[in-house]
Amino acid sequence: KILILDFGSQYTQLIARAVREANVYCEIVPFHSKIQFDPSLKGIILSGSPFSVNDPNAPDVDIQGFNEKVPVLGVCYGAQLTAKKFGGRVAKSDKREYGRALFHKKNADDVILKDIMDASQVWMSHSDSVLELPEGFSVLGTTEDIPYAAFKKDGSGNPLYCVQFHPEVYHSIEGKKLLKNFLVNICGCHQDWTPAHFVTDTINNLKAQIGDRKVIMALSGGVDSTVAATLIHRAIGDRLFGIFVDNGVLRKNEFQQVLDIYKKIGLNVKGVDAKELFYGQLAGKTDPEAKRKTIGKLFIDVFQDEAKKIEGVELLGQGTIYPDVIESVSVHGPSVTIKSHHNVGGLPDIMHLELVEPLRFLFKDEVRRVGKELGIPADLLNRHPFPGPGLAIRILGEITPEKVQLLQDADYRYVQGLKDHNLYDQVWQAGAILLPVKSVGVMGDERTYEFTVALRAVTSVDGMTADWAHLPYDFMAFISNDIINNVRGINRVVYDISSKPPATIEWE
Ligand code: XMP
Repeated sequence: KILILDFGSQYTQLIARAVREANVYCEIVPFHSKIQFDPSLKGIILSGSPFSVNDPNAPDVDIQGFNEKVPVLGVCYGAQLTAKKFGGRVAKSDKREYGRALFHKKNADDVILKDIMDASQVWMSHSDSVLELPEGFSVLGTTEDIPYAAFKKDGSGNPLYCVQFHPEVYHSIEGKKLLKNFLVNICGCHQDWTPAHFVTDTINNLKAQIGDRKVIMALSGGVDSTVAATLIHRAIGDRLFGIFVDNGVLRKNEFQQVLDIYKKIGLNVKGVDAKELFYGQLAGKTDPEAKRKTIGKLFIDVFQDEAKKIEGVELLGQGTIYPDVIESVSVHGPSVTIKSHHNVGGLPDIMHLELVEPLRFLFKDEVRRVGKELGIPADLLNRHPFPGPGLAIRILGEITPEKVQLLQDADYRYVQGLKDHNLYDQVWQAGAILLPVKSVGVMGDERTYEFTVALRAVTSVDGMTADWAHLPYDFMAFISNDIINNVRGINRVVYDISSKPPATIEWE
C-alpha cells in the first residue's frame, strides 16, 4: 500500500482517488501520525497544504527518515518542504502561480516522466516557490514561471521525487500517468486493488471477524447499505438480518420496490411498516430540526424492537464509507478534527454492538464498482442520494399523510421524467419540495387554489458544494405540464436556481 500524509490540502482526497484509480491501495493519514514501516508499505506521498513552509508553525515531518525506508513523492507543499529540509531555498516568488501552466521536461529519460509528452498541461496552486535546489538534487522540468517544477534527489538509495504542480487534479492532463509511473515503476506496486480482489479479500475478512455470530443491519435502499449488506451476506448468508423501515416519508412505491430488489439479490431483509407511528409523532411539528430528531429517535426505537426479536445478535452492520472516516487536518493549526457521521442516525452509539463496516475504506465510486462486481442492478447503484428523514424535510412545515401523497406523486413524475429524458444520470441529486403556499390558478373555466411544488436538481461531486443543474427548457416545460395536469392539488411548479453555498441542497 501507499500512505498519503495529509498536510491539510483541499486536494488530498483527490490524490487518494487517483492512486486508487491506478488500482493501488492507499490510505490518508494526518501528517503527524506514527508510521509503521511494514513490508506492505511501498511508498509515501506528501500532500499539499494551505501553510507556507516558512510559517513558524508549519507542519513538519522527517522526510529523510521516511526516505531511508521507502520511495517518497512530495506534491506542492510536500515538494517545498523537501527542498527546504534538504538545504534548498523556498520563498515567496514575485509571480504567484495559480492555474494552468505548461511543463517542459529537462530530463526526459527519467522513469517518472515515462510516456509524458513535452509541454504537457499541469495545474499549479502555490505562492511560495523553490528558488534554489538542495545539493544533490537535480531538476526534471520547468514551467514558464518557475525553474523547478519537478525535481529529484540524485544518487543511490530510495528515490525521492518532488513536483510543484498537482498531478492529482483533472487539469493536469498527464498527472495520473506521472502518479502511475511513481506507483508502478518507482515503488513497485502491483495494481491489484481491483473490485474483484476487494470482494474476495473482504469476504474472507468478514468471515474471520464474524465467525458464527449474527449481524443485524438497517438498510435504506441506498447504494452504500445495499453493497455493504451484500458483502456481509456473501460471507455469512442468512445470519445477516436486514431491517428496512417504512417511515411514511419514503418515495412513492419505494418500500415495496426496494424490498423486491433485496429479495432478488437474495438478502434476508424484513420490511417493517411503521408509517402510522411516524405520522402520529410528526403531527403538529413544523421545525426542521424537531422533525429530524423525531424521525431519528423513532427509527432507533423501531430498529431496537426488531433487534430484540433476534436472539443473540452481537454485531451491527453499517455502510460507512471512507470520506466519513478520514481524519481531516485542520487548516487553522495542526490540530485534528474527526468527522463523525453515521448513515443511520446514531445507531452505533445506542446499540453497543460490535461494528461491521466492510466499506470503511472505499470512496463512493469504488462502492459502485464493487456493487457492479457483486451483480447489484445498475438502477440501484446509480440512484441519487436520498436523505434519512426523507420527504419530511421536503414538505415545508407540518407533515400530513395527504401532503406526503401529494409530494410523492409530484416527485415520482419528476424523477421518472428525468429518467425518460436521459437527464437522471446527468444530475447528482434531484427531488421535489412541497411549499406551504397556495396560489390561484385557472384550469378550464375553473379557478383553482392549490399548492406549489418546487423542483430541485443539482450537480455536485460530494454534496459539500453544488450547482443548480441547467436542465433544458423543453424538459422544464414538459415536467411543469405533466405535474400540474396529473397531480391534483398542485397548480404551480417553480424551479430552484440556488447553488450551495449559500443555499443548501435540501430546503430544511
Ligand atoms: P444539504 O441540504 O446539507 O444536503 O446541502 C447535503 C446532502 O445531505 C443530504 N442530507 C441529509 N442526509 N440526513 C441524511 O441522511 C439528513 O438529515 C440530511 N440532510 C441533508 C442531502 O439530501 C444532500 O444529499
